[in-house]
Amino acid sequence: MKASKKASKTIVTAALPYANGPMHIGFLLEAIQADIFARSLRLSHQDILYICASDMHGTPIEINAKKAGLEPEKFVEKFWKEHRADASSFLVSFDNFYKTHSKENKELSEYFFTELKKKKYIYIKNMDVIYCPNCQRTLPDRYVRGTCHLCGKADQYGDVCEGCGSVLKGTDLLNPKCSLCGTTPHIKSSPEYFFKLSTFAGKLKKWINSKSADLQPEVKNWLKEWLDKGLEDWCISRDAPYFGFEIPDSKKECGEVKYFYVWLDAPIGYISSTKNYCDKHGLKWGDYWKKGEVNHFIGKDISYFHFLFWPAMLMAMDIPLPKLTVHGFITVNGQKMSKSRGTFFTAKEFYKLYGAEALRFYYASHLQRKVVDVDLNFDEFAAVVNNILVGKLGNFCYRSLTFAEKNYAVLPAAAENKAMTKKVISLSDKVVKNYLAQDYHAAVKNILLIADMGNAYFQKTEPWKNKEDAKTGAAVSWCVNLARNLAILISPVLPEFSGKVFGALGEKDLADQAFDSIHFKWKGKIKDVPLLINKVEIVRKETFPLRLTIGKILEVKDHPNADSLYLLKVDLGQLGKKQVVAGLKKHFRKEELQGVKAVFVANMKPAKLRGEMSEAMVLAADDGAHVGLLEVKDMDLGAEVHFEGTENSHQEITFDEFMKLTMTVQAGRVFYSGKKLISTSEEVKVHGVNDGARVR
Ligand code: MSP
Ligand code: ZN
Repeated sequence: MKASKKASKTIVTAALPYANGPMHIGFLLEAIQADIFARSLRLSHQDILYICASDMHGTPIEINAKKAGLEPEKFVEKFWKEHRADASSFLVSFDNFYKTHSKENKELSEYFFTELKKKKYIYIKNMDVIYCPNCQRTLPDRYVRGTCHLCGKADQYGDVCEGCGSVLKGTDLLNPKCSLCGTTPHIKSSPEYFFKLSTFAGKLKKWINSKSADLQPEVKNWLKEWLDKGLEDWCISRDAPYFGFEIPDSKKECGEVKYFYVWLDAPIGYISSTKNYCDKHGLKWGDYWKKGEVNHFIGKDISYFHFLFWPAMLMAMDIPLPKLTVHGFITVNGQKMSKSRGTFFTAKEFYKLYGAEALRFYYASHLQRKVVDVDLNFDEFAAVVNNILVGKLGNFCYRSLTFAEKNYAVLPAAAENKAMTKKVISLSDKVVKNYLAQDYHAAVKNILLIADMGNAYFQKTEPWKNKEDAKTGAAVSWCVNLARNLAILISPVLPEFSGKVFGALGEKDLADQAFDSIHFKWKGKIKDVPLLINKVEIVRKETFPLRLTIGKILEVKDHPNADSLYLLKVDLGQLGKKQVVAGLKKHFRKEELQGVKAVFVANMKPAKLRGEMSEAMVLAADDGAHVGLLEVKDMDLGAEVHFEGTENSHQEITFDEFMKLTMTVQAGRVFYSGKKLISTSEEVKVHGVNDGARVR
């Protein structure tokens, strides 16, 4: 194959995942998509760095750290380590996985800010912010809940209405409440820093229509819409308490300390992670960012930031603009990834079940530089991995190598097979082009065509019939050469698989495995062929019939027609407020229940109990003498708890069906057929009841 074009300095990035929870297979779609590109560039002798980092700042991280009882620095450090390990277990070859809470990023963010200020792209203006007097904090839009001012849907977050889909501001909501404490917040005027995004509208328009931007058509349409609507200047500061970098001189200029909004310093994190790497290796980040080429891979949800804010900032700093690839979202069996539906997989969980290369191959076969969602359908996943990856590609490489190992001390030169060899070389050229155009779907398809040719040839040649024949040796050698070439071609997707093939061939030098080392001239000895790839067996999550949801008891009243019953008013978060009839009167005084968080069954068929509607059910453990509620302190209202390894069903259930379930208490924990009731962050506890207590 021909050598590729001359080396130029190139950066490849995946968006910086928030250090705010375990890594999941959605982010892995992006990390693997970018990784395949990075590896393809390396195999084309490009001077590339694959850069990523943890995004460590912002309100959710600050609040979750507090909930976890950790300093934010400790909290983000923990996820940084976990994410780095997770990415590496999925063979994501970051050259640097750094952090945004770093000295490099602080310096660069301050540098960007002061430069932009000098150039008069930054100004201070008063704006309305929402302030919770109880929490004593300014509330970001999504920490306010209230009624949508457009469609009237109740209980919406302040950033977007689920009812009408409109993008909201927290200040739009009617009857707003602080989502942290329920207090009614008020609006106050606060001086904030703004970046003059509007100034860049003309230049951005030009850019999106330029050939060099090479935008995906869908993206171009969004951008046109956004630009036609007109750009508002961008607020880049946030009020204390905040986990982030202090804005230089903000105390002096605003009367109180302000912080950089996380989305200001996060993309600068791409550069500071590059700088951190370059400083350690005697390189200059400017050689990559100012003279080379930058390729960002991002999900569709963060397009606004990457196609408007970030390019405008770069323009203002006279740094060339990047190329961007936007991908869609992962769905699982056709559904949005969600913890409550059991369609959420952490990287660790998935790795344990199926390993890294099965997912890499499945993703690669679906990726095409298009903004479409990728469905992880488990039936298809099993078919793709077992029948195609293992059955075709794995099978050809394995049978060729093991046959050669068993029967030939040293392999002779490969048979000429002119026509077939030519076909393989021309398909290989296509594969390389496919990779560099980020059409991995086509790359995999073409690789499989080659593997099919190999399998058919091996079958037709029947080498087991006359092994000693010189012609047979040459034919087997051709197969081994083909296996080697296949290993080179698939290595951006399956680096471990390919590494095993190279190992058996005694090839250690990376240069021998670049795209331009595809040929049929290999000869020698095959040694120690390992198993190349394993089949997967799909493990299904069991469904548990109850939707177990965290709620808070807001109000306790006597049931008008029954002595042993209370009427509770319960807040179930996004499920809204419900009335619940509960037989707790003999065991709890009203004050003991008021304000308590507990576990509720949210999918009970609503029923009238003694003339009062009951729309959910509160769970309690009862050992005959004592009764205890199921306790969960740190969970959000509306969040779900589940029994280990099961997913909650959201289908309505009748009281009779409910009564057939047996949940019991052992040592203060709740069990269902040996499985413990857990949330993402804690175990569900019950106090004051004896072992064997029934939960209902
Ligand atoms: N911290 C920001 C990015 C800052 S970049 C300067 C962020 N973090 S994130 O953790 O929420 O998401 C990281 C990347 O993963 C984003 O590109 C996002 O689109 C992608 N994905 C998150 N969930 C996803 C799926 N379910 N499917 C595919 N990609 C998904 O946004
Ligand atoms: Zn509050």
